[in-house]
Amino acid sequence: MEIIRTPAEMTVWANKALAAGQTIGLVPTMGFFHEGHLCLMRKAREKSERTVVSLFVNPIQFGANEDLGRYPRDFARDCQLAEGEGVDVLFAPEAQAMYPSEASTRVIVSGLTDELCGASRPGHFAGVTTVVAKLFHIIKPHCAVFGRKDFQQLAVVTRMVADLNWDVEIIGHPIVREADGLAMSSRNTYLSVLERQSALCLFRAIAHARRRVRTGFVEAKVLLQEVGELLQQEAVTIEYVSLVDQASLQPQAVLRKGAVLVMAIKIGATRLIDNDNLFEEN
Ligand code: PAF
Repeated sequence: MEIIRTPAEMTVWANKALAAGQTIGLVPTMGFFHEGHLCLMRKAREKSERTVVSLFVNPIQFGANEDLGRYPRDFARDCQLAEGEGVDVLFAPEAQAMYPSEASTRVIVSGLTDELCGASRPGHFAGVTTVVAKLFHIIKPHCAVFGRKDFQQLAVVTRMVADLNWDVEIIGHPIVREADGLAMSSRNTYLSVLERQSALCLFRAIAHARRRVRTGFVEAKVLLQEVGELLQQEAVTIEYVSLVDQASLQPQAVLRKGAVLVMAIKIGATRLIDNDNLFEEN
């Protein structure tokens, strides 16, 4: 596996692969890999001839009081894991190379970014779409694989690609969970043993909502109240719980196909998100 540190060298590599007629699959990440990331890499390998994983803790998607400084990092371990998955290139640029001091452009998707995570993290999605757009220009992938845990991020990136007529296939990979149902996330490392136990309320809420949908229950308001009560059995702060349409992200009053239960909670200082497409088999 090659480790590439600058956008210019990355583009030289990509141009060579494209000139040789090869397809490129990209997995954009912020590192500290877990099984969820490795599944995205496997999917990218399955879908393309060459696989690039970007590892960049993108400073512009973090708010002033967020966890940029303490975001978990382990470059040596990440290299080993990516290499083990047969990744061709790990693209790990420095912040200065991605955002030279004169850089002043932001890519902004409006509307879809106003609610849910966008409401409590102003500027977050502009940071995400700006870096993803830059990665797409630098690496020129045919497809890019994103985890569905970041449900709103996937919707926003999909919208950006459609709006800008970008010839990149966006692939959403199902959420990868621990054996007890906790969605895998690099941020789970912040949780104490007790907090991790509390975090399981997210999966309990999903299981409850699925049961209700299976038995034909369709009133969103009542279901949301039940889910809220279930979450509050633990020492968590609810940021949002909503039932939204998977593409428009608009709240649904009556549950129907495409309804996604989305949740964001705080446990101590750790913010966790989870979601489930209630009508999809899993
Ligand atoms: O999901 C993430 O890890 C990040 O938001 C992404 C897509 C790599 C952009 O920095």
